Amino acid sequence: MTDHVIVERRGAIQVIRMNRPDKKNALTRAMYAAMTEALTGGDADDGVRVHVFLGVPGAFSSGNDINDFMAYAMGGSLGAELVDFLVALAKAQKPMVSGADGIAVGIGTTLNLHCDLTFATRRTVFRTPFVDLGLVPEAGSSLLTPAIIGRQQAFALLGLGRGFSADRAKTAGLIYEVVDEDDLEREVFAAAEEIAAKPPQALKIARELMRGPREALVERIHEEARHFAERLRSDEARAAFTAFMNRKKTG
Ligand code: COA
Repeated sequence: MTDHVIVERRGAIQVIRMNRPDKKNALTRAMYAAMTEALTGGDADDGVRVHVFLGVPGAFSSGNDINDFMAYAMGGSLGAELVDFLVALAKAQKPMVSGADGIAVGIGTTLNLHCDLTFATRRTVFRTPFVDLGLVPEAGSSLLTPAIIGRQQAFALLGLGRGFSADRAKTAGLIYEVVDEDDLEREVFAAAEEIAAKPPQALKIARELMRGPREALVERIHEEARHFAERLRSDEARAAFTAFMNRKKTG
């Protein structure tokens, strides 16, 4: 149980809101578990037609909680929650819409690769500093990103850790639309309602045809996870986590 994920129903829309504003929605094991439960539960519930992922104003997510990474780097347990969530995302049966405002780091970016529509605001920046942290891409992003935006854009995002503004992300095909902050949730819910009003069986088949089989994606998630876990205990990663924890705040 965690208060850091709020799951609500709005008619046929299941809303999964990351809600840990003091940490810019850094994701903990308990938060992944709550989101997995919501996704699988919503998929099994005939009353749910669409999942919506939201964050808080200014922060979709700052990625995995670095304290959890550090705990594992120092010999603790990683737990299965993160990979379980990634597999649930890959296997989700119902359309997923996300609305990202502001910070979208790490899984705050890669989660959207699994969504059917992503809306972002003008101040949103998508960033995956995996390599800078001594890590490797996760969430199947090493497979999905080149397929969605091409290999060179993917290298800039995943390899170099360059930030993609919302406009750039839209041009690259990473997201669907860029809107004003004040309009974000209205646009997201309008799209979700549009989805919920479609004939569900036809939409399900259309979506399956567009996505194709998931086996290769799930396999890639596990392959990435094996490298990721090894890298978490590398000197490169430990140094990066220590630098983050010891950083001096400016301003
Ligand atoms: N894990 C753990 N804590 C995090 C976090 C993360 N991924 N991201 C932010 N936080 C915490 C900060 O430590 C800080 O906590 P404190 O107030 O107790 O010191 C709080 O959230 C606010 O973050 P802060 O850095 O002050 O906000 P900011 O607006 O200046 O910067 C970020 C936001 C996201 C750019 C910056 O926090 C950051 O780079 N975070 C790490 C992102 C990352 O590398 N994620 C892992 C990807 S795999």
